[in-house]
Amino acid sequence: MEPLVTVRPPGPRAQEILQRDAAVVSQSMVREYPLVIQRARGMNIWDVDGNRYLDFTAGIAVMNLGWNHPRIVEAVVEQFPLLSHGAFLDFCSEIPLRFAEELVARLPENLCRVYYSNSGAETLEAALKLARQHTKRPYFLAFYGGFHGRTYGAMSLTAAKVIQRKYFGPFLPVIHAPFPDPYHPFGGDPATCAEEVVSYIREEIFRREVSPQEVAAIVVEPIQGEGGYIVPPDSFLPLLRELCDEHEILLVVDEVQAGCFRTGRFLASEHTHTIPDIVCLSKALAGGLPLGVTVSCDEVMTWPPGSHASTFGGNSAACAAGCAVLKLLHEPGFGDHVEEMGEYLRKKLRTLQKEHPIIGDIRGKGLMTGIELVKDREGRKPAQEERKIILASAFEAGLTLLPAGESVIRFCPPLILERRHVDIGISILDRILEGKGF
Ligand SMILES: Cc1ncc(COP(=O)(O)O)c(C=O)c1O
Repeated sequence: MEPLVTVRPPGPRAQEILQRDAAVVSQSMVREYPLVIQRARGMNIWDVDGNRYLDFTAGIAVMNLGWNHPRIVEAVVEQFPLLSHGAFLDFCSEIPLRFAEELVARLPENLCRVYYSNSGAETLEAALKLARQHTKRPYFLAFYGGFHGRTYGAMSLTAAKVIQRKYFGPFLPVIHAPFPDPYHPFGGDPATCAEEVVSYIREEIFRREVSPQEVAAIVVEPIQGEGGYIVPPDSFLPLLRELCDEHEILLVVDEVQAGCFRTGRFLASEHTHTIPDIVCLSKALAGGLPLGVTVSCDEVMTWPPGSHASTFGGNSAACAAGCAVLKLLHEPGFGDHVEEMGEYLRKKLRTLQKEHPIIGDIRGKGLMTGIELVKDREGRKPAQEERKIILASAFEAGLTLLPAGESVIRFCPPLILERRHVDIGISILDRILEGKGF
């Protein structure tokens, strides 16, 4: 199957639907460019006018196994007529139980107890409530650039873009620390920025702002997603683990975007052998159905019956899809394929960087890869307008890409991506950068 056909967007049908969308749907949702999706399969999306796109978004890291994977569709089609809603809130049923068993078998040993919800934000809400319930402490610590969702607790943790917080306060008591971004290093040196951040927390935040004895949890993304696909130095998570252990603070790792083999391992925190007290997973967990899990250990997850639950949490169809996803993700060689494709993509991007000064930084792990666009390589000022132009032009040329951070383009394709898809995507991008003089 060819990954791309000619595209002439936006077509008349898309325009008509977008007008109706603008008239009735909440304006809070972003429409990055005028794409109206009709169907999708594997690496491709088709719009309502029959245009076919090569997809480098995976629905924001949801369709890790490709759009509409036949084995996941089959699992849902089999499960739905038997039991669509298992009422897992009040009664036990075997499918969610099976998913929980299969999930914990693939996680570090201590992570053995699963709370079910339906979205990334809800997994964070559960983590915050659990951390407070367990520690009886009120405060949380999170990071600038972090994105954890839009509900009140998750939004309180989030400090990515001010529009996501403006006029929504007051928030939960969350203190934000800088994130160690090697391209804009806290303290000035990429080699030591993680140590600098952790000593800032120790020496400034814990001495001037909040006692560590009042902090229930530190919440962190192993690689920042919405914040700009920022990969911290390898020392960062282990240092946070140490800091948490020192003060009996829980370490919550938000793997909602970076998890499910996006970086080549089931959990991105595995790269640095960091074992969280609580881990949050959602997005790619059920192949496009809403499912979230907050996983912890027996010592922490001790909340009593009735203290937290959700009507749809553990939905049977989502869990059936989830079982199929777990099986497919753990097929031999899958993680290696993701790492290999990530390396190949970044190698191609580095070649592009030689020709196009707008590409300031190339970074990532596995297929969580980003390029930071800059006005000039010395000053590293964000090239925001240029990014808008590039994203729109890529769409018009048949390649779907998404932004992240201030001026980053993220490459977040389905993990089934092959070299030929990378080659096509890169050649489209090359043509655009060349044509625009970037
Ligand atoms: C790291 C991270 N956490 C949480 C969320 C929130 O997930 P949801 O939109 O499903 O609530 C996101 C969404 O992008 C995310 O990237």
